[in-house]
Amino acid sequence: MNDSPLTTTDLNSILNPQADQVFFSEQINGKELSEKAIESTLRPQNLSEFVGQKQVVEQLQVLLKSAQKRKDFPDHILFAGPPGLGKTTLSMIVAKEMETDLKITSGPSLTHAGDLAAILSSLQEGEILFIDEIHRLAKSVQEMLYIAMEDFRVDVVVGKGIGSSSIALPLPKFTVVGATTRAGLLPGPLRDRFGFTAQMEFYTPEELQKIILASAIKLNILIDSDASLEIANRSRGTARIANRLLRRVRDWKEVNSTQHKSISLQDAKNALLLYQVDNLGLDYLDKKVLLALENKFSGGPVGIKTLASSISEETDTIEEVAEPFLVRLGFMSRTSRGRIITQKGQDYILNQERQ
Ligand SMILES: Nc1ncnc2c1ncn2[C@@H]1O[C@H](COP(=O)(O)OP(=O)(O)OP(=O)(O)O)[C@@H](O)[C@H]1O
Ligand SMILES: [Mg+2]
Repeated sequence: MNDSPLTTTDLNSILNPQADQVFFSEQINGKELSEKAIESTLRPQNLSEFVGQKQVVEQLQVLLKSAQKRKDFPDHILFAGPPGLGKTTLSMIVAKEMETDLKITSGPSLTHAGDLAAILSSLQEGEILFIDEIHRLAKSVQEMLYIAMEDFRVDVVVGKGIGSSSIALPLPKFTVVGATTRAGLLPGPLRDRFGFTAQMEFYTPEELQKIILASAIKLNILIDSDASLEIANRSRGTARIANRLLRRVRDWKEVNSTQHKSISLQDAKNALLLYQVDNLGLDYLDKKVLLALENKFSGGPVGIKTLASSISEETDTIEEVAEPFLVRLGFMSRTSRGRIITQKGQDYILNQERQ
């Protein structure tokens, strides 16, 4: 085994739950697959296969069934919540359940109203327009989207200057499915145009265990039940992390094969020790944030931008990835004057130092 120490960059790219930032690829069944391709092979294909998010799933079922009964199209849907909880997966499932096509775009890729107009005018009746990172839409694009979502039309400006006029082009009825990790950044008028907002919750360890066992079958990985629960417990309530840790533990097992064919509890523990994922699921980035808060800013309060730049990380990464989990554990909190570490967070650091 290669026992050169992992660098911080290695660890970030291995464990960071934002798939877009991960560029490595791996072999599955002899095929070279990128991180994104692996994710899509693991996506549940319908609502009955989808684990957890019970309330959201039940609400969606009613929304979709009633639209089908009325022979109509469902209202616009917004999925909100931290990365890796299944927003994209559910959006794809909505299209499958409605037996319609899904056109995919994202906030940052629509820079001009014209980009959106082109997509809108290509939509067929009943199709779903999936807009990922919808909180990152440019203002002019948002304004066109408001009208399209409410009145099913786009206003196209013809000509320039005083002689210009606007022509209303009618659109077929369609459904916008938006996904956002930052619902708070969505302007009110845009939020109001969604008939249904699904707030995604973190998964319980038991739900994550089910997800891990289902993924293990898809990836031909043999794993003991207690080992799958151990990985689940350290997955920060996040499906994407559970799947990723499962694959990292699988790697470890391949290199350190023992008599025992399937991944045992001890294998899982050894592998996760190598990847510096502790019992609570805190990883390198979380620890870096906590340590900076405590040691560089005497526990805070400190502004998020200052905190992020002190550890050379993007503000978004801290706000979307580390912070929700640390706040949920009660290790840090957000105050009007900035972020602070809590007593519980300080106790955690002390404990770590003692080990
Ligand atoms: N409920 C679930 N059951 C099984 N697998 C799931 C579930 N939710 C998510 N996953 C798996 O987790 C991975 C990430 O899910 P997905 O891409 O849908 O997350 P997301 O919320 O869209 O994240 P992001 O905000 O980063 O775009 C996928 O591989 C998916 O298969
Ligand atoms: Mg997504």
